[in-house]
Amino acid sequence: MAPVTKAVVPAAGLGTRFLPATKAMPKEMLPVVDKPAIQYVVEEAVAAGLTDVLMITGRNKNALENHFDRVGELESTLERKGDSDKLEKVNYSTGLADVHYLRQGDPKGLGHAVLRAKMHVGHEPFAVLLGDDLIDHRDVLLTRMLDVQQQRSTTIVALLEVDPSVAHLYGIATVEPTDEEDVVRITGLVEKPAPGTAPSNLAIIGRYVLRPEIFDILERTEPGKGGEIQLTDALQEMADGPDWAGGVHGVVFRGRRYDTGDRADYIKAVVQLAVEREDLGPELRPWLREFAAGLGDGDGDPDPS
Ligand code: G1P
Repeated sequence: MAPVTKAVVPAAGLGTRFLPATKAMPKEMLPVVDKPAIQYVVEEAVAAGLTDVLMITGRNKNALENHFDRVGELESTLERKGDSDKLEKVNYSTGLADVHYLRQGDPKGLGHAVLRAKMHVGHEPFAVLLGDDLIDHRDVLLTRMLDVQQQRSTTIVALLEVDPSVAHLYGIATVEPTDEEDVVRITGLVEKPAPGTAPSNLAIIGRYVLRPEIFDILERTEPGKGGEIQLTDALQEMADGPDWAGGVHGVVFRGRRYDTGDRADYIKAVVQLAVEREDLGPELRPWLREFAAGLGDGDGDPDPS
């Protein structure tokens, strides 16, 4: 099987959970510390060797294209001022990857967004990265998934153990062990099971390495949960295993993952990433300790001291 070179990033969602911030701006451009969320995702793809990135976008997404393009006026102003640090930050996202854009058209779900990549991807395995999940760059996930894909030639999804109380927010996998500690064989998948009915606590997080046969399956996948064409449903068919497609494996991730799709989790991600930064951490850490102490035990009153 050919090595993977392409990444697909679905980015057509309306981001309604972040209104009004996302009224005129794509949610993928929300800053996580000082970088838009989408840049972390593209950096992750590039770090794993995938420099051909296809974004599946929709209306209101021009800011994404602008972010990965040159911005002459700003560049020349910074050059004139001799501000090479800022100039480097501006230029970095321009040269990061070979980014392509395709509109989703009808927003019919994640499976539909992935299907739109068919012509661009061709008959090769490819990665899919969802922008709401950020993986800490110090922890390896995508590179490991690509290795497992090359070894086993199957379709690979990233799995994370989650608390059963949140399992209904994810695609959930039932699995069997393999001879590798972090790799499981997937025997079943269910998209967002009703609360309390999840068959396991292994959730799909938004990283996939898909075989191109997924496109044929997606073409006939009927709308599922929420009336949308679900990638999870197509993967379930793949796991049921037509022999030519070789089934589905999961790589169980035990590193740091940040969820930026939900407001509270987004705020946690910004704080976590900021306190670890060399330029911001020293100022933020003592402030945060003091602030947290002032919060007391959760009743709004400071702790008695
Ligand atoms: C999507 C997938 C779901 C997966 C999740 C990971 O759901 O459909 O299977 O667990 O991403 O973030 P979404 O959160 O986009 O509704």
